Formats: sequence, C-alpha cells, structure tokens
Amino acid sequence: MTQHYRITLLPGDGIGPEIMAVAVDVLQVIAKQFDIQFEFKECLMGGAAIDATGEPLPAETLETCRNSDAVLLAAIGGYKWDNLPRHQRPETGLLGLRAGLDLFANLRPAKILPQLIDASSLKREVVEGVDIMVVRELTGGIYFGKPRGIFETETGEKRGVNTMAYTVSEIDRIGRVAFETARKRGGKLCSVDKSNVLEVSQLWRDRITELSKEYQDIELSHLYVDNAAMQLLRWPKQFDTIVTGNLFGDILSDAAAMLTGSIGMLPSASLGASGPGVFEPVHGSAPDIAGLDKANPLAQVLSAAMMLRYGLDQPAAADKIEQAVLKVLDKGDRTGDLMSAGMNLLGCRAMGDSLIKALED
Ligand code: IPM
Ligand code: MG
Repeated sequence: MTQHYRITLLPGDGIGPEIMAVAVDVLQVIAKQFDIQFEFKECLMGGAAIDATGEPLPAETLETCRNSDAVLLAAIGGYKWDNLPRHQRPETGLLGLRAGLDLFANLRPAKILPQLIDASSLKREVVEGVDIMVVRELTGGIYFGKPRGIFETETGEKRGVNTMAYTVSEIDRIGRVAFETARKRGGKLCSVDKSNVLEVSQLWRDRITELSKEYQDIELSHLYVDNAAMQLLRWPKQFDTIVTGNLFGDILSDAAAMLTGSIGMLPSASLGASGPGVFEPVHGSAPDIAGLDKANPLAQVLSAAMMLRYGLDQPAAADKIEQAVLKVLDKGDRTGDLMSAGMNLLGCRAMGDSLIKALED
C-alpha cells in the first residue's frame, strides 16, 4: 500500500533553497522506488519570513509544521538580519520552532567517512573510524531558562542575565532518549556536565546516574565539559554516544562535526515525545556562497535520510539514500568544501544529478 506523508519544507535563507531543491529531487526518486507519496508544502521561516511578514516564524508556518508528518529544514540567517532586535532574528524563529513542537531531543551524528579522512584537520589515525552521536537537550537549559534579559542594577549599571536550569523530568526524558540511542549503537554513553561548579549539573549527573540503573547493559561515564572538549580532539574514538545539555551540546556538536572534515556533511534530527520531528543539516546558511551553485547538498540529503529513518520509520529508504551518498563520494565527486587533488569538482546541482544517477543505477 502506498504510504502518504505530509512534509513541511522550510528552505530558509542563504544556500537553503539550493540544497533543499536537491533533497526534494532525491526524495521524489525514493518515493517511486519505495511506494511512498510525499505531499510537500513549503513555508516561510528565518530571514525570508522576516522580509515577507516581519516575523522569523509566522504562526501559519508553525501550524503547518504541527499538522505534518515531518519537517525538513535547510538553514536560516544571514548578515542582512544580524542587527535586528532579538525577537526578530532568524535564530529566534528556530528556537520558537523547537519549543513550539517540543523537540527536546537533538541527535547529531558525527561519523567519519573513509572517503573523506583526508579532509579532516586531525591525523588519520586519530579520526579513522570515529562514529559519535551527540544527544543534545534542545528545549531547556540556558537557552530558555528564566530570568533572562538585560536589566539595570540599583546603581544604574546594565546587567545581562540568563539562567541555566533543568528539572528532573527534563533531565530524565533526554536521559532516556540517550540510553536508548546508545543501546542501538555501541552501548556506551558519556554524560557531559559541569557538576564541579554548577548545581544544575549536579542534579543532571545525579539523575543520569540514577537512570543508569534501568540501563545496566549500557556503560555509563561522566566528563566535565572542558575535559570532554579536550578528549574529543585528543582521542575521539573513545566516544560512542554523548548526552549533554543545550549549551554544552551546541558547542560540542560543532567540535564533533569538524572531526569529520566538513560540517557540510552532517545531518541532524530534532525529536519530541510524539508529533513531527525537524530534520536539518548541522551547518548554517553560508550567505557568502548563496546562489552561486557551490554549496554542498549532502548534509541536507542526509537529513532527508534521517527524516525517513527517525521520523517516518522507513529505514530501507534511508539506507538507500545513505548508500547513494557513499557511491558518489567513491566516484570522486566533491563539492568545493571537500575538494582535494584528483577529485571531480561539482556544483550543488551537479552533485544532485550525480546522486539521482546513483539512486537509479
Ligand atoms: C545550532 C545553532 C543554533 C543553536 C542557533 C542558530 C540558534 O547554532 O543549531 O546548533 O544555538 O542551537
Ligand atoms: Mg550550533
């Protein structure tokens, strides 16, 4: 029976529309091959939405996302909107989308592909075989904690305030996702915090330790965030699954991404307890190369694969896309960010064509 899915597309800004076009082409081919029917609906988000409506996340966009089976997002932001007040910035739209869909779990895989080892800035023996999943808490912590703001003290001096806070239930729900994720992978979980200084981290560590009693098959370790950053660069192969809060996860997932050589290769999934997930590349909107047909569409395409795997329960279709990506890399096809001597330099669209050929072969 044909499976029918409603997908909201948020191409956003910068290179977003170019890489989204490639992902949609790939999904159309997959649809035919796996008896799937996609109903795509494109909505405004980020700078494009600010220009059209004055807001980074129009109510209509959030409503359409809520009523879909999954959301595929490209990238948002750019120089043009950098100086707007906070509530009008593209990033605020992204945070609103995460909060509005209650997407508390962000999965960011950083897996080094053998074809791209030389693109890493670290030595081959350090990165060969790296396969890490960062599970980042996404709707709590210092990104959302109150009080927040810039206030005036009694002496009239300005004081900026944010609050890092986690409740037991917030820690437990992300903890469970992390233990379950580790179970499907290498069976090792490293929880990252700053419990030598922060009470919020002490509670985090206590809860994760308590939860581990229910997951006796998972090998749990704890690291302070500064040490974790160092260990990621020193010997990344010690990590399998990492779980951490919103801010530490933001930072460590960029570091983990770069182990693989290019942030242009990495997808991510943001999931809630139920309802649609949001699938998006880890990289940004790269306004400097927007519209030049130079962008690497592979992270977007791999995000579509994550959507099939984690959002729509179509693992075979996800496998097929991931294999096509490996095939084009095996052939030597590279966008500029991955380019090295002897490889074929392709633009964004040509990379898309090559992927379609690989899927149809
Ligand atoms: C990310 C980004 C966002 C974040 C920004 C754009 C708000 O850096 O998804 O990692 O900080 O979460
Ligand atoms: Mg980030």
